[in-house]
Amino acid sequence: MKLRVAVLTISDRSSRGEREDLSGPALVDRVEAAGWEVGRVDIIPDDLQIIQATLSLWADSAAFDVILTTGGTGFAPRDLTPEATNAVIERYAPGLVEAMRAKSLTITPHAMLSRAVAGIRKRSIIINLPGSPKAALENLEVVLSVLPHAVRLLIDDPRAEDGHRMSV
Ligand code: MTE
Repeated sequence: MKLRVAVLTISDRSSRGEREDLSGPALVDRVEAAGWEVGRVDIIPDDLQIIQATLSLWADSAAFDVILTTGGTGFAPRDLTPEATNAVIERYAPGLVEAMRAKSLTITPHAMLSRAVAGIRKRSIIINLPGSPKAALENLEVVLSVLPHAVRLLIDDPRAEDGHRMSV
């Protein structure tokens, strides 16, 4: 199943051009290596309203099965990605972030500092990833294999039943 993915980098400094965005392109490469399509990328500041508006617009466009965000999930005062995501999702998907944090804790105790959330808005799954390219890729890797089945369930594809009989 070829997923349609969007990648949103959330960073004040990258949005002002003061710091090169390495995480967005790293996620795009990984998604394309999985054989999926990246239909949209953008870089926006750590602004609650802008994050909410962008996520809503992208989810409501029905153009993306999965929307990945990178950045803004930590403890800094401007880390507002989880709050903005919570404001726009209609149903929570806590298992995705539980799995990401569990695996990440085997890599670094700093994984405890991730406040990432994941959830569903309309037919899109929104997943927060950390800001550094290394951390973003490590977290994406944890959930990558379950995303096709998640999307089949979300779009009510009858073939989703097959996934229930498979271990992956
Ligand atoms: N998860 C993994 N797998 N690897 C990491 O290096 N870094 C952590 C955490 N999750 C990390 C990780 C750190 S240091 C922070 S502060 C939080 O993610 C939030 O990152 P963010 O503020 O860049 O979004």
